[in-house]
Amino acid sequence: MILAQSAARNVGIVIFAIIIVGFLVYLFFNLLEGRKEGGSEIELAANRKPYFPDEILETRKLDQSLLSGLFFLAVIGIALPLYWLGEPGRHEGLVDNTIELWTERGGESYEENCSACHGGGGAGGIASFAVTEQGTGEFVASVDWVAPSLTSVLTRFTEEEVTYTLNFGRNGVMPAWGAPGGGPLTEQQLEIIIVYLRSVQKDADAVQAAVQDGLIEAARDEWVSRDPDLSAQLRDAHYAVARATQTGQSSLIEEAEAELGSVQAMLGETFPNAEMAAWLDEISDPSHEEYLTYGKLIFINKADAGAYSCARCHTNKWSYDGANDLDVNGEPLSTVDGEPGYVQGGGWFGPNITGGAEVAQFPNVDNHIDFIRRGSEDGIRYGVAGQGGGQMPGFSNRLDEDVLVLNEETGEREAVNWPASLTEEQIAAVVAYARSI
Ligand code: HEC
Ligand code: HEC
Repeated sequence: MILAQSAARNVGIVIFAIIIVGFLVYLFFNLLEGRKEGGSEIELAANRKPYFPDEILETRKLDQSLLSGLFFLAVIGIALPLYWLGEPGRHEGLVDNTIELWTERGGESYEENCSACHGGGGAGGIASFAVTEQGTGEFVASVDWVAPSLTSVLTRFTEEEVTYTLNFGRNGVMPAWGAPGGGPLTEQQLEIIIVYLRSVQKDADAVQAAVQDGLIEAARDEWVSRDPDLSAQLRDAHYAVARATQTGQSSLIEEAEAELGSVQAMLGETFPNAEMAAWLDEISDPSHEEYLTYGKLIFINKADAGAYSCARCHTNKWSYDGANDLDVNGEPLSTVDGEPGYVQGGGWFGPNITGGAEVAQFPNVDNHIDFIRRGSEDGIRYGVAGQGGGQMPGFSNRLDEDVLVLNEETGEREAVNWPASLTEEQIAAVVAYARSI
């Protein structure tokens, strides 16, 4: 399309050049002629020259005029429909150009406003956040809050829902960017960033690969947690980093981080990826006794800065690794019964889904699965007594009729089909886990 467009532009430039050159040539000869005529105007005046006799005027001359009229009529008759036929292409070219321009500008705006937290190209990152005591506002700890990757956000949320998050921010960690939330960007500036985000969305294979990598990490964490010695060793290494960070001394921080790195490398060798993958394969079978563990690992998947997880919204303190971090008094930030850990699904940005809440909300498991596949919609009720706010993401694929992309094979423009974050099997497993907590 862009090629066709520039071709059309080139033809236009050539025609323009021919017209200009032709006009200059005409002007040149006209002036030359004019000079020659100097002083003989009366003799050469057009109306004093003898003209064709009637026989010629009424035959040859008339025929010539009529023929040339017919010729130009034919030209117009062909050129206009051709122009009209080309119009949609020109319109699409304009749309393509606009999208291209917005993608570029949105990318610049993204790098300027968002990449510090969400990473370059939307890859995911961390936001520094000060945890304070609820009520008193007293400082508790400075933490690294994961800012999810945005390279699959358009499959879980509609562009309208993303705009809502951009307008109002989220929970005080993600700042408000739009005017409605008191932010600095206009509606169009937000739209341009979203158009840019379209260009960095992962394809189905890349999403599945990322989810699988995260599951392997989660499987390793699970195995470490089942070994008291190894888990104590890992936790100590994390706390050493937390203490060093509180001193603010970079040499201490580096040393502690290096130690944590070597413990993690040792754990990587103890529980190799291939073994973890094979175990995942086994427990993903619904009849396996550890099937619910598989569902839990999906719930807490850390891949792409938690983008595919449930815990980041439904588990308090999970997004800043609270069980592995310390407050100013050296106490773990997240504990359960005095031990470092999380109340999975206990509620945070998303509601508490523990204690049988979900079986009551969705007596029919298929309705539950369907809710996780499609997410919530603003103002639409779900389950027995749920009121959607549009902020619960959908984990299945999402067809967006408003975004047309060119299908290279058919040459047709089609609604974009953003790939699913989780497979149908993974959604069923995470639902089974959520119903059990
Ligand atoms: C100060 C750090 C920071 C900046 C800057 C920032 N964000 Fe965020 N953003 C976050 C955090 C942290 C979250 C996750 C909040 C949570 O845990 O619920 C988030 C969440 C989001 C979400 C929701 C994603 C999801 O899957 O739930 C979107 C969309 C988003 N940000 C887009 C943007 C865009 C676009 C910009 C730039 C205009 C931006 N953010 C700038 C920190 C930031
Ligand atoms: C970006 C944050 C976010 C993520 C990630 C998220 N949720 Fe939610 N979830 C919500 C919000 C917010 C609601 C409340 C509905 C609303 O506001 O639209 C909700 C509602 C729910 C409900 C209905 C609760 C009720 O009883 O009303 C269930 C079940 C649920 N989520 C399960 C999950 C599961 C399972 C996952 C992971 C596959 C997940 N959620 C991931 C934010 C999130």
